[in-house]
Parts: sequence; structure tokens; C-alpha cells
Amino acid sequence: MRRSYIAGNWKMNKTVKEAVTLATELKEAGSSKNKIMIAPPFTALSAVSEVLKGTEIILGAQNMAIAESGAHTGEISVLMLKDLNVDTVILGHSERRHIYGETDEVINKKINLALTHKLEVILCVGETLEERESGKAESVVTKQLVEGLKGVKSGNLPSITIAYEPVWAIGTGKTATPADANAIHKVIRKKITELYGEKEAEAIIIQYGGSVKPGNVTDLMAESDIDGALVGGAALKAETFIPIMNYNK
Ligand code: 13P
Repeated sequence: MRRSYIAGNWKMNKTVKEAVTLATELKEAGSSKNKIMIAPPFTALSAVSEVLKGTEIILGAQNMAIAESGAHTGEISVLMLKDLNVDTVILGHSERRHIYGETDEVINKKINLALTHKLEVILCVGETLEERESGKAESVVTKQLVEGLKGVKSGNLPSITIAYEPVWAIGTGKTATPADANAIHKVIRKKITELYGEKEAEAIIIQYGGSVKPGNVTDLMAESDIDGALVGGAALKAETFIPIMNYNK
């Protein structure tokens, strides 16, 4: 049985004060049946890390540099994240791919660097509307998955979560139907079987992301291959994130 994994990606939102308030509200909601992670902006990681001490909520970062240190103006390195007690990092988010031009190659380097430093990784994959409408959803997602996991040994697979986030469903209020999302999750799991084996594919957590809300989370999570959610907008308020965190309570 895979344990459900609910993650909140706060994107470019919240001052330190606002982040501490939200993290405190989540902490006060008590423990959840599910694995829970929140990814505040870099500027709030230190303060949120203090709030989360002694809780089961995992601290995540939204991105990470391709190198450990050096001449990379404006970037944040894996060592800096480790220094702030960050446990996991979201890599390959569609906003990184489409707004900031991150390629599969860059994402793959970041993944291997994160694993070397024992950070967990959420690898995001997902097709655009144009790609879906031209029948390319499966091939796009498969390519992102295969390229992203290059060089990742099966021993490191337990540190990897895959998040399927169709780009057209992010922040748009449009959610993939549970059945459509599950169909892509099955493609992902099948590819993991081919790459690593059945046991590994059965164990890997595949989250869905894209307009997940308290009202649709239960139906999405009821699908056989959807093992959690990567939540954007609804993760910014305790009143919407807590019901998602505890959808199966
Ligand atoms: P929304 O939940 O706002 O659609 O964002 C999803 C997302 O991109 C999470 O990483």
C-alpha cells in the first residue's frame, strides 16, 4: 500500500510573516494520515523550518541550482537548502520549464545533484494544451520522465516522487478528470516498470497536480494510480489546504 503524499507548492507567494502564520496554522491542525510537505519561497525557508521543528510536516524547496557553489548569480544551492533543514526539492516544475526555459538535461543534472546530497525530489512532468490536443500527452510525459531520471539508480528511487501536472490544468481551475489523470499515471508507472522493475514501480508515489481543491481531491485520490497531490493555489490558505491534507480522515 502506498502512503498518500500531499504537498503544497506556495510558488512566489508569502512574506516571511505570512509564511510563518500559515505554517503555524498547518502545524496546529495536528498530524495527518498522509505524508505532508510544504514548499515556501526560499526567503521563508529558515523561519518556516523553525515552525515545523518537532512536527511531521516536511520542508521543501521549489527549485535548486545546477551547481553546488560558485559563480551562479541569483541561484540557491543544494548546500544552502541542506543548511536550512530542507528535506525535499521540487524539480522540473512546468513554470521552470516554460517561463525559465529549463530543459530535461538541466532538470536531470539537478535531480542527480539533489540525490547525491540526500535530498528527496519531486520530479514534475506534464504536457501543454497544444501537446494534449495533438495527441502527444503520453509521449511528452514519457520523454520528460526518462530524461529526468537518467543516471538515477534504483537504490535512489525511494527518494523520488513523480508529479503529473498537466500544464493546462495549473492555476486555471480546469482539472483533468480523475480518469484522464489516472490514465497518464498508469503510463508513468508502466515506464518505471520498464526502467526499474515491478517492485519499484509499485512503490513509487505519483502525485497529481493542477487545480486540486477540497471539492475534487477525494475523487482524484480514489483512482488506482493517483497517490497524492501537488497543490498550488489551494495550498496558500489553511482553510483550503487542511481539508486536502486530511481528505481521507
Ligand atoms: P494549482 O493548484 O494552483 O493549479 O497549481 C498546481 C501546481 O502547479 C503545483 O505545483
